[in-house]
Amino acid sequence: MIVSGSTSQSLAAALAAELDEPLGAVDQTAFPDGESKFALSPPATHSLADVDRAVIVASTTTAASHLEVLQLQDAAREAGIDEVVTVLPYMGYGRQDRAFEAGEPVTARAIARALSPGTDRILTVTPHEPGVCEFFDPPATAIDAEALLAEPLQTGPDPALADPLFLSPDAGAIEIAETVQSAYGEGAVDHFEKTRSSGTEVSIEPSDAAVENRDVVVVDDIVATGSTMSESIEVLQERNVGRVFVACVHPLLARDARSKLARAGVEAIFATDTIERTVSTVSAAPAIAEEL
Ligand code: R5P
Repeated sequence: MIVSGSTSQSLAAALAAELDEPLGAVDQTAFPDGESKFALSPPATHSLADVDRAVIVASTTTAASHLEVLQLQDAAREAGIDEVVTVLPYMGYGRQDRAFEAGEPVTARAIARALSPGTDRILTVTPHEPGVCEFFDPPATAIDAEALLAEPLQTGPDPALADPLFLSPDAGAIEIAETVQSAYGEGAVDHFEKTRSSGTEVSIEPSDAAVENRDVVVVDDIVATGSTMSESIEVLQERNVGRVFVACVHPLLARDARSKLARAGVEAIFATDTIERTVSTVSAAPAIAEEL
């Protein structure tokens, strides 16, 4: 049975269809003091006693969604379901995978420790650092969804991209750009250099790649505040680029990220449904299903 957290309803439904597994119902209410309450139930054709595996699918984009995963795990255990698999399409706090300054927590590790007892397996999609998987006690797998981004790039732009440049904003994301280029089947790959001065401020140093009048796809794992992408696009615009597209796995698009990208001159954004936004035109369900 696939169990959907409130953040991942479309992806959970796509996964249920992909696997031909029933989609359980999650009834969410609240106590008068505001504490959340969940009740799991199987589809009409099943009983909980027949369910031998619960696959909880929930991106942890908010504090409430972390708590929700804990509650859904516990509900599945309480129902006596043999195997509980937790799928975090987007693992929130995954970028806090070390203490950057003295006194800071390793929040990704703290969350992994909290989520571990309630599950037999963890799957997460394109974590910022695959090393976060080691923070979990049960087996944890990082699923690569980057190649899926080639499909909307092949079908979306009109006219189609011709000999595009796939560009990552920094060397750290070059492998993602290479994967998308390889799945797309043509074009070149390059990277800029990024220096981050705060949570919302970055500066971008261009490479000497030829971009004039060329279609460029800027590729990254996450678009959060949009600073990295908007700065990259502005640098490209100064060099008389052709069209600029953004492709990312996780379209967090926090705060005014959409406006920043629009002001910078992005042509279109293509992303997966690990975070459900209007730009999530490609589903990560097939990549997740392969691991289930
Ligand atoms: C960090 O290194 C990631 O790969 C992304 O570049 C980063 O999370 C993007 O953040 P923002 O959109 O806030 O610049």
